[in-house]
Amino acid sequence: MDKKALEALVRDMTTEEKVMQLVQIPGSEYEADAEITGIDRGQVKDSVKRLAGSTLGIWGSKRLRKIQEQYMKEHPHHIPLMFMLDVIHGHKTVLPCPLGQGAAFDPEAVKKGAEMQAREAAADGVHATFSPMADLCRDARWGRIMESTGEDKLLNSRMASAMVAGYQGEDLKDPEHIAACVKHFAAYGAAEGGRDYNNTELSEHTLREHYLRAYGEAIRKNPVMVMTSFNSINGIPATGNLFLMKKILREELGFTGVLISDWGAVGEMINHGYAEDQRDAALKAMMAGVDIDMCSGCYSGHLEALVNDGAVSMEMMDAAVLRVLNMKNDLGLFEDPYRGLDAESGPVITEENRCLAREAVAASLVLLENKENTLPLRKEKNAFIGPFADTKRLQSAWAFSGEDENTVSVWEAASEVYAPENRKVAAGCTMLDQDAVTARGICHIDRWQEENDKLLAEALRTAEWADTVVLCLGEDSTQSGEATSKASLQLPAVQMNLLREIHKTGKRIVTLIFTGRPLELKEVRELSDALMICWLPGTEGGHGVLDVLSGIVAPSGRLPVSFPYTVGQEPLHYDMYPTGRPKPVNGPFEYTSRYLDCENGALYPFGYGLSYTDFAYIDPRLSTQTMSIAETITASVTVRNTGDRKGDVTVQLYLRDVAGSRVRPVRELIDFQKITLDPGEEKEVRFAINEDMLRFWTAEEKWESEAGKFQVWICNSSCDGQALEFQLVK
Ligand code: NOJ
Repeated sequence: MDKKALEALVRDMTTEEKVMQLVQIPGSEYEADAEITGIDRGQVKDSVKRLAGSTLGIWGSKRLRKIQEQYMKEHPHHIPLMFMLDVIHGHKTVLPCPLGQGAAFDPEAVKKGAEMQAREAAADGVHATFSPMADLCRDARWGRIMESTGEDKLLNSRMASAMVAGYQGEDLKDPEHIAACVKHFAAYGAAEGGRDYNNTELSEHTLREHYLRAYGEAIRKNPVMVMTSFNSINGIPATGNLFLMKKILREELGFTGVLISDWGAVGEMINHGYAEDQRDAALKAMMAGVDIDMCSGCYSGHLEALVNDGAVSMEMMDAAVLRVLNMKNDLGLFEDPYRGLDAESGPVITEENRCLAREAVAASLVLLENKENTLPLRKEKNAFIGPFADTKRLQSAWAFSGEDENTVSVWEAASEVYAPENRKVAAGCTMLDQDAVTARGICHIDRWQEENDKLLAEALRTAEWADTVVLCLGEDSTQSGEATSKASLQLPAVQMNLLREIHKTGKRIVTLIFTGRPLELKEVRELSDALMICWLPGTEGGHGVLDVLSGIVAPSGRLPVSFPYTVGQEPLHYDMYPTGRPKPVNGPFEYTSRYLDCENGALYPFGYGLSYTDFAYIDPRLSTQTMSIAETITASVTVRNTGDRKGDVTVQLYLRDVAGSRVRPVRELIDFQKITLDPGEEKEVRFAINEDMLRFWTAEEKWESEAGKFQVWICNSSCDGQALEFQLVK
């Protein structure tokens, strides 16, 4: 349909029809067994169901065709219903959780992964996904850190941009692509105390320099949608926030697509104390430019009256409706309301997709310790012990359209690699602690203890038999994701007990940590010979992990988030602002900015990760020590593989503006490159630095660079390297 035809369609619609294009209702309203991610069920009137413009949380070509056929019959203008779904890191084939994908530092791979997700979801009738999540997360207590690609604005910007490009492709009409939605605008990751849905307080410069960056970069890739966040920011809920939605999103970032609220967020402005009632909430959301009300009922209940009373102008209404119809048009729904709804059954997991997922897993693993080259595993007696050793629950909370039965467990993959006489498996303990288990009503306390005593005894017998124990520990998928904030970052006590008991056997221990968030690993480090973070790795989890354990692939992942010594350090991130009393390296420490009982920095910092080989950074250098505004200077280093096997390395470029009209972070990642080197091979890695990369939100509230001294590190993590210096002259 062309623009004129769309405008004519809007003119022909009744006010009720227009309002309903702006209403999204749960898929469960159309079909009883659909997955939903919110709280209300079965409360939508039939009149709303007949006209609501979109729905979410439901997939499957056969099911959706039935719904669409019925809907098209009843809709007065035969405007198709739109199907949206949280395809976050996989539809059928599930990739590592986004935090794991961040660890690979490979935007191209992330784009390919998003393409795969789009293909599978589109073939299952899905039109749009609520991804990428571009929220900056510096607090491991926040369960949704799992859905982010980490604590760094540059890494997040590249990953979120790659996801938008991968989901949407060149043309949304292409049946292999779906619409993307950049979320949650804005600063949802800055929830106070790491408690989900909590208020955020951010200065404008921190908001602009750090929190807004990844949304901004991803929005430049033209996502069809942006989602508002649940939180209030500096006292105003995002969903009714004119500064965020009008000034920043629409004016500054030039976003012209559809702005959708998060689930129920329009109505939640009442709880926030920002709207008096549903009508007031609907008005405030409309004024902020929210086009679609996801499931709060405020638009369906009150928008028509607001238009009839003149509180919302017809012009404003029409503009919002047009944006939604444009989206449907761009997806080709007017020509084919049944796009993706032809197949009798859903997409099957192909070998090709499995390969992609397997490579993604191997690339996401971060090796933190490898004492005396414990890894790769030798072909001797290896015992796989722990609650993650033989489970197919390797997907995260947001992978509800992927099925556990398709997942390859660690044990299954180990069975393909090691002969029966060289492998054994034992669960060792339950996944969760007693209180967590009984809180979910799973089993009685006495039986829990009995069960764990039995599991431990069996695990110890298995460990006695083994040369090496691969201990598979971690946080189960119910422990991260939405509404899973935690005040403790420890592994379940029952799992720590298993580690301590196995350690007493004196066997070599390789600890694998499956997790959606950073955890406290100080003791785990002490008791393990090797330690590797496996995230929540998805469908090909077992294979990817074994590829690295067995040495087919050398580990190359880098931490996309800081792992703390203790939860008391949170929020923790490497790119902090300096203080007037920095803690000196060698003391005296009194009256400096420090903890009495803990280091300031991370146990494992952002950017850190080992390989099975070593890399030397030779002669880091700058092309000049003085740079003018129009100039681009080059930072380069020669990287040599000094070990005896091939490996990938992520070379990182950090910068510090030494003195500014506002203080600047102690270091900021401004570029990175991942390269592959054969043993003995060396390559020159070159980074261009231009004036644009030196800009920040100055004391004059302008996005500018300032003349003066800059430091640069070309290095292996956020905590190493030698500073080089140059001057920016203006
Ligand atoms: C709430 C979550 O915050 C959001 O990320 C998700 O996309 C929606 N529910 C829809 O499921």
